[in-house]
Amino acid sequence: MTQIFAHRGYSSAYPENTMSAFVAAEKAGADGIELDVQLTKDGEVVVIHDEKVDRTTNGIGFVKDLFYKELRQLNTNKKGGRKEPIPALKEVLEWMSSNQLICNIEFKNNRFPYDGMEEKVIHLVRKFHLDNRIIFSSFNHYSIVHSYRLAPEIETAPLFLEGIFMPWVYCQSIRAKGLHPKHTTISDQIIQKTMENGIAVRPYTVNQEKDMHRLFNIKCTSIITDDPVKAIKIRNQY
Ligand code: G3P
Ligand code: CA
Repeated sequence: MTQIFAHRGYSSAYPENTMSAFVAAEKAGADGIELDVQLTKDGEVVVIHDEKVDRTTNGIGFVKDLFYKELRQLNTNKKGGRKEPIPALKEVLEWMSSNQLICNIEFKNNRFPYDGMEEKVIHLVRKFHLDNRIIFSSFNHYSIVHSYRLAPEIETAPLFLEGIFMPWVYCQSIRAKGLHPKHTTISDQIIQKTMENGIAVRPYTVNQEKDMHRLFNIKCTSIITDDPVKAIKIRNQY
């Protein structure tokens, strides 16, 4: 059965990359969550997609220029109501000890390298004994290889925005057990061939019903979606 990963949590209904979005995804019955990590000025691993806090919070500036204490004051709930801070990765991992979810941690280090981020994340994953429920991904494939060398027991999966020729050969060459392609750039045939070669395929970001049907039909390993509720409803038809 195709697994369903909630992209930035249940982000079509809750502020993205927040505890509410992750908890709601788990309650909805998602198999996993996807989240993005970056480092604050004082080196805390925090869960946020953009390099700047401007779009998703009431603050301004780069994550890398803010101290954790400052960043924690910001509110991701821009609609008003209950304050919703940017989570530290350690909070999310601690919460994961109380459930069975899989977590895809994306290193958001394709713009700023965030030296030492992989080491910090691996330390936290090991601290909470989550090695076998974590998948590391990144558009920065050097980072993927670095994390594999540091922690070969944790699955890695390169992210792709464009099509790639024989992706299973590339994944095998960097010891990645997964491939996370943009769903519009990969054919059914290449997905199947990649899976036949032992590589898990988890296309992103699959939000339209017709695209979900296509991927459930071919028994794709997983999909990454903003709307796990819709995806589960459609998967129930298979
Ligand atoms: O994991 C897939 C997806 O999250 C990659 O793109 O920009 O949403 O982080 P983005
Ligand atoms: Ca992401």
